[in-house]
Amino acid sequence: MNKPKILVSRKMFPEIIERLLQHFEVEANETEGVWPQAELIARLQGKDGLFITGSEPINAALLEACPQLRVVCSMAVGYNNIDVPACTAHGVLATNAPDVLTETTADFGFALMMATARRISESEHFLRRGEWKQWSIEMFAGSDIHGATLGMFGMGRIGQAIARRGHLGFDMKVIYHTRTRLSAEQESPLAAQWVEKDELLKQADHLVLIVPYTPASHHAIGERELKLMKPTATLTNVARGGVVDDAALARALAAKTIAAAGLDVYEGEPALNPELLTVPNVVLTPHIASATLKTRRAMASLAADNLIAVLTDGKPLTPINPDVVPKKA
Ligand code: NAP
Ligand code: 8YV
Repeated sequence: MNKPKILVSRKMFPEIIERLLQHFEVEANETEGVWPQAELIARLQGKDGLFITGSEPINAALLEACPQLRVVCSMAVGYNNIDVPACTAHGVLATNAPDVLTETTADFGFALMMATARRISESEHFLRRGEWKQWSIEMFAGSDIHGATLGMFGMGRIGQAIARRGHLGFDMKVIYHTRTRLSAEQESPLAAQWVEKDELLKQADHLVLIVPYTPASHHAIGERELKLMKPTATLTNVARGGVVDDAALARALAAKTIAAAGLDVYEGEPALNPELLTVPNVVLTPHIASATLKTRRAMASLAADNLIAVLTDGKPLTPINPDVVPKKA
C-alpha cells in the first residue's frame, strides 16, 4: 500500500523527520526560510497532511487550492494562524500542541516580567555603552516582584503556571481576569482572586498577558487600558501580537505612564513597531517563550504524533476541530 504523503513546512529536527518517514512519504523544507503561500500551495498538491508551526497561515484560499489535504498539525499551542471554520468546512482536521510547552513558557513569562521590573536589559545596555562610571542611590531602581500584586490577563494552562510561580515562589498576591471564572479548586492553591478587567488594570503591579489572539482579544490592551494602569506598573506580553496595541504601548512607555514592558510577541512580527526600539524601558525578545530544545522537541513530537494518528486511522491526540471526520484518501 502507498504511504500517505505529507509536507513539513519548516526546517525540522532530523529525528522527527526520521520518525515521519517510517509512516509517510515526506517532503520537508530543508532551508531556514519560510515558503510564501503560493509555494506552500504548490508543494501541497497531492499531499494528505501538513506539519506547520505557529506562523504559517492556513486559510480558505489554501484549503480551496489543496482538495486532497486531510489534516494540518501545528507544533504551536496558539492557532490564530489557522482558519478553523474554513478547515472544518473543507473536512480538514486541525491539531495544535497544548500542555507540552506550558512550564517552559511560564518560566519565560516569569523571567521576562522579572527582567522588566528590575530593568535588566536597560542596565546592561548602559553598561555595554561604557556609561557606568559610578554607583548611585537610584541607579536603575526598579520595582519588587516579591509581595507585589500579579495581574494575570488569561489564566489557562500557562497563566496558572505563571501564577503558581508568583504565589508559591514570590509570595505575590494573584488577581486575574478571564471571561469565565476558574473553579474554587483551581483558584485556591494560587489564592487567586477573579476581578473585572478594569480592576485588574488598576490593581496590578505586574500585568502579564497570556490569552489566545482572537477577535475578542484584539487590542484588549490599548490606550484606554494603559491609562488605567499604575505609573509604576509593568506589562508583560507573552501571548500574541495584536492583543496589545503596540503603537499605544510605545506612547505609554515614552510618556512613562507605565514604568516598563516586556514583550515576546508583536503585531506584524517579525517586524515590529519602530517606536518600540526607541524607548529604553522595554525588554524585547523574538518570540522565544517556548524555546528550550527539550520543549521544542516535545512540541514537534506531539505534532508528529497527531499526523501519524490521523493518517493511520487513529484518533488525534489534541484536535482543534474534533468533530471533523478526516477525509479518506
Ligand atoms: P489556554 O489554556 O487555552 O488559556 C487561555 C486563557 O485565556 C484562559 O484563561 C481563557 O479564559 C483566557 N481568555 C481567552 N480569551 C480571553 C479574552 N478575550 N479575555 C480574557 N481572557 C481570555 O491557553 P494556554 O495554553 O495558556 O496558551 C495561551 C496562549 O499563549 C496561546 O493561545 C498562545 O497564543 C500564547 N503562547 C505564546 C507563546 C510564546 O512563545 N510567546 C508560547 C505558548 C503560548 P476564558 O476563555 O474563560 O476567557
Ligand atoms: C511557538 C507559540 O514558538 O505555541 C505557541 O503558541 O507561540 C510558540 O510556542 C511558535 O508558535 C512556533 O510554532
